[in-house]
Amino acid sequence: MRAMPISSDHPLLLRIVDDLADHGWSQQNIFLPQDLTRALAAECRKRAAEGELAPAAVGRGASTEVREGIRGDHIQWLEPGQDAASDRYLSLMDSLREALNRGLFLGLEDFECHFALYPPGAFYRRHVDRFRDDDRRAVSAVIYLNDAWLPEDGGQLRMYLDDERIHDVQPTGGCLVVFLSGDVPHEVLPANRERLSLTGWFRRRGNEPF
Ligand code: OGA
Ligand code: MN
Repeated sequence: MRAMPISSDHPLLLRIVDDLADHGWSQQNIFLPQDLTRALAAECRKRAAEGELAPAAVGRGASTEVREGIRGDHIQWLEPGQDAASDRYLSLMDSLREALNRGLFLGLEDFECHFALYPPGAFYRRHVDRFRDDDRRAVSAVIYLNDAWLPEDGGQLRMYLDDERIHDVQPTGGCLVVFLSGDVPHEVLPANRERLSLTGWFRRRGNEPF
C-alpha cells in the first residue's frame, strides 16, 4: 500500500471546508480508498482480538467513568508509528487540518482519534463532543470501516441539526462525517451487528497556564 500524501487543496478537502462554513457539517460517502478502509478495519479487528480495545469512558479527568447506559463502544487511541494504515489515515487528517485552518482560520493544532467497536446492541446516547471544562475539541471527524451497511443493521449516526432536524448517516465503509464539535448534538443508534469506526477530534490550543 502506497502512502501518498494528499494536498491540502485537494477538491475533496475543499468541499468539506465549504460544507462546514455553510452549515457546520459535511458528509463524504466516498472519502477513503477501499484498500485503506479495509486495512483500517483489519487493524481495528486485530487490536480487538488482541484485547487492546477497552470499554469507553464518559467524562474527563476525575469524573471519568464507564457507563454502558450512555455508551457501549470499545476503543483504543491511535498513536503515530503503530501501523502503516493508521499512519496513512493520520497523514490524510493532517491535510484536512491544514485545509480547515486555511479556509476557516480555526487554528487547529492537532488531531486525536480512536478506533471504536460497537458490539451488537451497543449505542451512544445523545451528546455533544465538547467537555464542560475543556473546549479544545473544535471539529469532529468520524470515518466508518464497515462492509455494506443496511438501514436494518441500525447503528446510524443521528445528527440533530438546526431546528432539531434529524440527519441519519449509515456507517458504511469509507464514509467520512465532519462537524463542528460544539454545535451538533448527535447519537449512535443501537447497532444490530458489529460496527467499526475511527472517531477523532481536531483541537485548538488550550488556555491552560504556561
Ligand atoms: C463519539 C461519537 C459517532 C459515531 O465517539 O463521540 O459520537 O458515529 N461517535 O461513531
Ligand atoms: Mn460524539
